[in-house]
Parts: sequence; structure tokens; C-alpha cells
Amino acid sequence: MKIAATKDMKLALESELVIAPVFEDFFPESTKGALGSAGIPAVASKVGFKGKFKQVAFTEANGHFFLLIGLGKRGGFNHEAFRRGYSEAYSRLKESVGETVAILLPGIIENEEFEAVYILKVSHYYFDRFQGEKTTFPDLKVQLVTDKGQEIVEKAERVAEATNFTRDIANMPPSRGTPSLFEKMARELPGVEVTAFGREDFINLGMGGLEGVSRAATEPGKLVIMEYGPKEKKPLLLVGKGITFDSGGISIKPSEAMDEMKFDKCGASAVLGIMKLASDLKLDRHIIGMMPLTENLPGGNAYKPGDILKHYNGKTSEILSTDAEGRLVLADALSYGVEKYDPYAVIDFATLTGACVVALGNNIAGLMGTDDNLKNQIKKASSKTWERVWELPIDQDFMDQIKSDVADIKNTGGRPGGAETAGAFLRHFVGEKPWVHLDIAGVAWTQAKTVKTPYLPHGATGFGVRLIYQYLAEN
Ligand code: BES
Ligand code: MN
Ligand code: ZN
Repeated sequence: MKIAATKDMKLALESELVIAPVFEDFFPESTKGALGSAGIPAVASKVGFKGKFKQVAFTEANGHFFLLIGLGKRGGFNHEAFRRGYSEAYSRLKESVGETVAILLPGIIENEEFEAVYILKVSHYYFDRFQGEKTTFPDLKVQLVTDKGQEIVEKAERVAEATNFTRDIANMPPSRGTPSLFEKMARELPGVEVTAFGREDFINLGMGGLEGVSRAATEPGKLVIMEYGPKEKKPLLLVGKGITFDSGGISIKPSEAMDEMKFDKCGASAVLGIMKLASDLKLDRHIIGMMPLTENLPGGNAYKPGDILKHYNGKTSEILSTDAEGRLVLADALSYGVEKYDPYAVIDFATLTGACVVALGNNIAGLMGTDDNLKNQIKKASSKTWERVWELPIDQDFMDQIKSDVADIKNTGGRPGGAETAGAFLRHFVGEKPWVHLDIAGVAWTQAKTVKTPYLPHGATGFGVRLIYQYLAEN
């Protein structure tokens, strides 16, 4: 696919297909010129196209072939409506015969160019590498009609590619998407320095959480650390939970939907994708990406309920459930990263709790943390990218709920406030650093049975990549 920005409407209209936005109650200036003075309105009314939200129609007029996109009423139109409307149209490009496509924009909200390109690329991603029959789209040559230049198109392409890269590794089957694969992919990123710790290092460094959780794994567990950018600047530290398969361990999960626990590596996948993006865009920022990676499996040598593990910062945790493993590996990564790299801020991504899914559903991630400034920066970035977040509290009551009788803390506080007690657990490992924890358990992948976002067809969503790009662009 090639995407070029053009100011030349006439030239764009020579494309085999013209994608044009239509509202129910308003005709954008930007489309009026498309066909002389009557423009798109005449085309739409000819075929009785009302512009209802997500309605699409192919039609021919004046020798041009149009794909009309219904965007509903102008009032309430926002970025997400833009994305959902355009992705509806983009999904029809499979049926289209042509390979040259012009995209017209409504010209009424900020950053439409970025959205149009980003959504085009993420809606054409399919995880079909294990299928004989591929989901193919024509190799499109796209012209985006805009007064802006090519730079915004290229930025959006890079962000979309990094999102799809994240989705691709997160979608990998558990016996393929191993800690070693993550390490290999990290080592392929230009300009990224990689260090990988294994079991021996976990033991020598006193990373009891990683040691315990990885003990019964057959795929070697790893802590992969990626460093990018100018070292004289204080870094941003990103940490992503990378459980490549979460069976629950000795506290084994019910077998129903256990396949979905291949997605328990989505946090690490997001961090890997963000490092790729930093490298692709040659960002002038110092970023550390850490991925604690291991399977969580049962076995004769597995860590057990009742065990007490000692983490990198010396704190001990009593294991009440081996299925609350994510916080144990994050504890070591966070405390090591904070001590070793002295970051100005810490952000972690983790498919951490089912409780977060119950609380916020499948379109909103749980946001926790201690620093109002950092929390607000992430919230603001999120309001632009529509990777939605909602704050959950981790105050003293939740800290009290995980106090242990035999260790410093315990790895579950029971069912009440399950997302918050997990956040409170992590709080013990970030010291005084500004820190935000994102529980992405509900948003990291889509299931057939839950709310679907049309531009993210199925499987891993890549949540977090665009959010952090936006955060970095704004701060
Ligand atoms: N990876 C799971 C969380 C999860 C479950 C994410 C379902 C998405 C869907 C995590 O390791 C886990 O098992 N958490 C337990 C914690 C409990 C034992 C305190 C949970 O949420 O049930
Ligand atoms: Mn678990
Ligand atoms: Zn897990």
C-alpha cells in the first residue's frame, strides 16, 4: 500500500475509486468541489443515500466510482465516530476492483489525516500467517486529499505499523510466541541495545518473583531490557507483563477460554511495539523497555500456594494463588528498572486482573498510580487516541488489604477490589517515582462475544502503542 497526501482534488478524482464522507444533516465544504457545484450531495441523493452512521454505498456518477461513507449527524461527531465510519468503508476495499483510491476528508475535526491513514492500516491487518487462505486486499495506491503535507501521513503509517507489529506478536500461539521470540524480535530493532537475563540471573540478582513463576516453565524465562536513545537524558521506563501463557500454575484455571491466556503477553508486546516505533521514527528520547517474560505452568517443581518469594527490592510476598503471577514478575522488573535507570517516569502495561474486565469492560483500561501529573498526562493523551482509560484508586485501604501475616505482602487480597489490590501490590516496587499502571486485561484483545471495535477485527488490539506515542508527542 502506498499513501500520498495531495492538494490536487482533480488529480485525486482520476482514481478508480473515491471515498467520500456524507453526513445526514450537513455537507462538508471539502467534498463540495469534488464534482462541480452540486458535488457529493447530488451523488448521494441520486442513490437515496442518507448518510446514516456506518452506512456505506458504492455508486457511479460523472464517470467516477464512489464509495460513500455515512457519518451520521454532525452534532456529536468525534474522532471515534470518524474511525468507526471510515473503517466500515475500508473493510469494503476487499470488494473493490480498483487499486487507485482517493480519500476525501470531512475537514471538521483535528488530525483527520492521521486518523484516516492509521485506521486504514490497522483495519487491513489480519493474523492469517497460519491460514492457507489469506485475507487479501488489493495493493492500494491511495491519495489523501488534504492541504497538509506527506509528513503526517508517514507518522500515521509508522504508528499503525508498530500497532500491527504489537498485534502480530501478541497473537502468536503460546508455543511460538515464547520469551525467546520476544528477545529475538527485540534484537532486530535498529538502535536498540538489548540485555537479557535468564534463570541464573534471576537467582543471582534476587528476583524471586521471576524465579518462582518461571520455575516450572519449559521455555526459558527471560527479563529482556531494551534501551533506546540519548543516555544523557533521564529515561522513561516502560514495563510490560509478558506471560506467554498463563495456565494459572498450581492454582490452575478452568479450561474454558484458557486459550485466551496466550494474550497474557500483551503488555510486553505493547512495550516491544513502542520500542520499534521509537526506533522507526528515530525519536530523540531516552526510553527503557522491560519485558519480564515466562510461561506460568504447573509441575512438580512449580512454585506453590503458601510459598514466600523475595523480590529484587527485598520485599517478600506470600503466594496465595499462583494465578496472581503477573504482579510477581512485574515487581522484580519495576524495582530493578527504577534502581538501575533512575527514570523520570514509569509506565507499566499488564493484562493483570479479570476484576478490571468486570469493572470496566472491553473498551476501557484501568489506570492507577500515585502521581497526579503523570496520570493527567496519560488521560489527556488517551482522550486524543481513544485508547480509553479510567482511574481506579489504590489508596491505603487497598494497601492494608494485601498485608500478610507471614510475609510483607500477599499476592492476592481476595475478590473485592481485585484490580485495585493488584495495583496496590505493584506500588511497593516503584519507590517514589512518578508511576502509572495500566491494567489492559479488558482491552488488549477482542473476543467474538464482546463489543467489537470495527477497525480492530479480531485478536490482539495493540492497545498502548498509540497512547504512548501521543504521550511522548505531548510531553
Ligand atoms: N492474566 C490473568 C488476568 C486475566 C484474566 C486477564 C482473564 C484477562 C482475562 C491474571 O494472571 C490472573 O489470573 N489474575 C487473577 C488474579 C487473582 C488470582 C487474584 C484473576 O484476575 O482472577
Ligand atoms: Mn494468572
Ligand atoms: Zn496472568
